[in-house]
Amino acid sequence: MEKLKIKNISKAINGLKIVDRVTASFLPGRITGLIGPNGAGKTTLFHIITGELRSDTGEINYRGEDITLLPPYRVARKGIGRLFQDVRVFENLTVSENVVSACYDHRVETPWFPFLRKKRWKALERDFKEKSDYYIDYVGLMEVKDVPASSLSYGQQKLLAIARLLAGGFSLLLLDEPTAGLNPVMIKKILNILKRIVAEDQGKTIVLVEHDMSVVTEVADWVYFMNEGRIAFFGRTDHVLGDKEVREIYLGL
Ligand SMILES: Nc1ncnc2c1ncn2[C@@H]1O[C@H](COP(=O)(O)OP(=O)(O)OP(=O)(O)O)[C@@H](O)[C@H]1O
Ligand SMILES: [Mg+2]
Repeated sequence: MEKLKIKNISKAINGLKIVDRVTASFLPGRITGLIGPNGAGKTTLFHIITGELRSDTGEINYRGEDITLLPPYRVARKGIGRLFQDVRVFENLTVSENVVSACYDHRVETPWFPFLRKKRWKALERDFKEKSDYYIDYVGLMEVKDVPASSLSYGQQKLLAIARLLAGGFSLLLLDEPTAGLNPVMIKKILNILKRIVAEDQGKTIVLVEHDMSVVTEVADWVYFMNEGRIAFFGRTDHVLGDKEVREIYLGL
């Protein structure tokens, strides 16, 4: 099955091993959890997958292609997108403009793109608008479509960031604490969207970094437990969360 495979990835920063020989794989059609205490290296691992940081050792393979040494923009073109821990949207653009600007289409990659006739250019604009409306509706932001992103609540901004990821056509979504700091209603909303994404498109893979164990339990069947840069445990979520060591290190039980 086409998937994300990480093999023996390590990263030291200032002599400190932040990520230590991590091997993991993430299957499509599934939400896989990545949990572990603060400073475990989860966000750093995301940086390495997206090419923002280069690992010292190992390989990363996505859908059969070696992406280990690719720069971030090329990793993105392979279909890997991320939701940042601190949500990032264009605050001075409207919701709609935010999503339109995230739309991706193979047509913009053709060599004759700069020579597109006005008519075809217009058609592209129309398609992007349609597509963006679809995803704005998908995340439930239709009512605020024309307001600047700065006037959205924090939770709505997260929804917008998810809409941008979907419009970008990414097949692998790396989500760094998408529900942190949100109220239970908004959390529920986001989780339903995530579940729908993988249910509707078995080609989509979601990796979810999360501290809230009720969230992990609800959406992820499988989870990696990371501690001090290493994958200390992998298994079915209930199994991992029930483990004595995990409970001691992480949950303080
Ligand atoms: N650029 C950097 N320079 C020095 N140390 C760094 C750098 N980036 C991360 N670290 C350190 O690496 C460790 C892992 O950080 P990381 O942000 O990956 O953890 P995390 O698992 O995402 O934690 P959290 O759950 O708190 O978000 C931490 O001890 C952090 O201080
Ligand atoms: Mg983090």
